[in-house]
Amino acid sequence: MTQEELFKKLIAHCKEYGFIFPSSEIYDGLSAVYDYGQLGAELKNNIKKYWWESMILLNDNIVGIDAAIFMHPRTWEASGHVGAFNDPLIDNKDSKKRYRADVLIEDHIQKIEGKIKKETEKAEKKFGDSFDKEKFVATNTRVIEYQKEIDVIKARFVAALDKSDLDEVRQIIIDNEIVCPVSGTRNWTEVRQFNLMFETKMGSVSEDANTIYLRPETAQGIFVNFLNVQKSGRMKIPFGIAQIGKAFRNEIVARQFIFRMREFEQMEMQFFVRPGSELEWFEKWREKRLRWHLAMGINNDKYRFHKHDKLAHYANAAYDIEFKFPFGFKEVEGIHSRTDFDLSSHAKFSGKKITYFDTELNQSYTPYVVETSVGVDRMVLLILSNGYTEEKVKKDDGEGEDTRIVLNIPPALAPVKLAVLPLIRKEGMPEKAEKIIQDLKFEFNCQYDEKDSIGRRYRRQDAIGTPYCITIDHQTMQDDTVTIRHRDTMKQERMPISGLTEFLQKRVSIKSMLLNI
Ligand code: GAP
Repeated sequence: MTQEELFKKLIAHCKEYGFIFPSSEIYDGLSAVYDYGQLGAELKNNIKKYWWESMILLNDNIVGIDAAIFMHPRTWEASGHVGAFNDPLIDNKDSKKRYRADVLIEDHIQKIEGKIKKETEKAEKKFGDSFDKEKFVATNTRVIEYQKEIDVIKARFVAALDKSDLDEVRQIIIDNEIVCPVSGTRNWTEVRQFNLMFETKMGSVSEDANTIYLRPETAQGIFVNFLNVQKSGRMKIPFGIAQIGKAFRNEIVARQFIFRMREFEQMEMQFFVRPGSELEWFEKWREKRLRWHLAMGINNDKYRFHKHDKLAHYANAAYDIEFKFPFGFKEVEGIHSRTDFDLSSHAKFSGKKITYFDTELNQSYTPYVVETSVGVDRMVLLILSNGYTEEKVKKDDGEGEDTRIVLNIPPALAPVKLAVLPLIRKEGMPEKAEKIIQDLKFEFNCQYDEKDSIGRRYRRQDAIGTPYCITIDHQTMQDDTVTIRHRDTMKQERMPISGLTEFLQKRVSIKSMLLNI
């Protein structure tokens, strides 16, 4: 199965099992807007809980807030979003498709990187154990040529963006013979800037109404509250403010399911530090955030860092944490050293003094900021695309093969933690199952299922990622033990009902993941 096929299947699976639906689907949907169904909402909430607790419970110098989506419009002038939150867009005249010019160029660079990878893998196969990758990359003429090509494109691209030279951005596309993925032609329009903020009006009388924006990032709600939180919480630098909330961007190219949405959710943390210490903190947070991802038990090979060549107007260092989605390595989280840009700019635009008096240094300064920013929806996609697996297994009757679809979701994030299945609908088994659920439901999301054969019920739970199923059978009625079936191995073991709480606490609680960070 190709990655493209897998991705299509995943999207269909998400709808079939109640994870994600197109928004307002009965009206044919709304482009790049999605609704979370009954299981998607559980998964999303678990991800948010994992992030929130990792920030707030594990760090005694980080506190959380919940700022409004609507903010004073001057906020977005100060932050630079009114002037500079633009994407360069280009249209192909034949396919009439619109693209982000920077994405076309980045995709082209990725293709060349793919060629380097191919050459290296070929050589690795040929030379086996004696293969020295570093030496090969530094000396192989073909690889050197490819790398030179990448360096030239990157240098031109960074210079063009720095000067906001959109003609040059177009010229890079032309010179590198980049074609439209749909029409295959190079019939491009000019490159234009497009502001991504959604506008609306506040006020009941239209002439008096003010234009306000739906926030394009949650971070500004933290910056404008810096003094409120610092003073009311008596916070001492270094300290952080965390927040989870909706953000809105009028994305030009809304693609890849919930990867790029127009309404999405962010989990952001701004860490305020002494000027001059920001790059040290930046490195600490870079490592810490990767550990958060890996503590979910996902393979290290699926992650990589990407250093920004072109820095945003507010940053002096930036890395993305990228994940290998079915459509390639893409950003899931950004870690940015934002300098004192935001606080200084809000001080200037508001006319208020926004500084911190450092009692140890006996001096006032504008704090510098290290930001970590991860998308909730991208995390949902990461978990689902990493977990979706089709396996060949023996049929229940032992005759021939069957396909088992299983979502290998980290157990602590799974929407349903335990399925409770009476073997038959009589002899007191349903009542026993009900009693177990009554005892466990305060801590764990449990699901009761009595319909169809046990094998079919297991498959249903596999398809939604339930890590454990217990079966109430004849023996249960005699000795209060149940069989517990493991999603990943399909192995079964017998255990007393009285041991279930401890068994689950160790394996499916958010704490079990927090301990691994
Ligand atoms: N405050 C910094 C900031 O917003 P960003 O790199 O633009 O930085 C941070 O966004 C994260 O938000 C991204 O890594 C991604 O996970 C998520 N994100 C951004 N735009 C998104 C979109 N259109 N749809 C879904 N998630 C998005």
